[in-house]
Amino acid sequence: MRKAIIGGTGVYQLEEARETQTILTAFGSVSYDIMSIEGQEIVFLARHGSKHALPPHKINYRANMMALKMLEVDEILATCAVGSMNDAFAPGDIVVIRDFIDFTKNRPQSFYEGDDTKVVHVEMTDPYCSNLRSRFLQRAGMLEIMVQGEAVYVCTEGPRFETASEIRMYRQLGGDVVGMTNVPEVVLAKELGMCYAAVGIITNWCTGIEGNSIEGHQIDQSMALRKNQVTKAFVDVLTN
Ligand code: HPA
Repeated sequence: MRKAIIGGTGVYQLEEARETQTILTAFGSVSYDIMSIEGQEIVFLARHGSKHALPPHKINYRANMMALKMLEVDEILATCAVGSMNDAFAPGDIVVIRDFIDFTKNRPQSFYEGDDTKVVHVEMTDPYCSNLRSRFLQRAGMLEIMVQGEAVYVCTEGPRFETASEIRMYRQLGGDVVGMTNVPEVVLAKELGMCYAAVGIITNWCTGIEGNSIEGHQIDQSMALRKNQVTKAFVDVLTN
């Protein structure tokens, strides 16, 4: 079986030697890099495209996840840039996502539409694979990469950032971090029976938490600081 890494904002390729290929799925075509590391084939997929041309609400999540399934991937580790509304998680910190709250509005969320497919209600007790989560924590520890904790991810539709009132509400509901892409990615992985875990890199305080508005350069700086550490740990998890 192959393994996969999905790169979110700021993570558009891996350092290792790579070859770009394209696969056609029933939902559209998907480009990915493929590399062999220590005898293990790893597929790398840039969620927003290699030049970040796709905003979160325009990503073809079903094509991406179907492509990984067709490539015989059984384990996926994904990065995601997130804002923090939890005082314990500051910009530059790394968190493991343990659950989500979905506030997306207009995205196909399933491979089972009920037309010519059966009706399926996928189970969500453990949306993020606990085995991959604990292996990531273990390897990060061995590589001396500081992981701040586990976080509940609120997924918004975007592409706009949230209002301060929305963030107050999400916080009251139990959210720790906010992003725009983990739903439906994690849901579709589960429907296809692939183990999926996501690691958040905190890029900013959410709107209204620290007073300042969210700046693009803040997001770029935090990602640049952490992306190599996180992807190194991902490769380590998937090849051991
Ligand atoms: N909100 C939503 N998505 C994000 C944020 C945020 O503050 N930061 C990075 N992705």
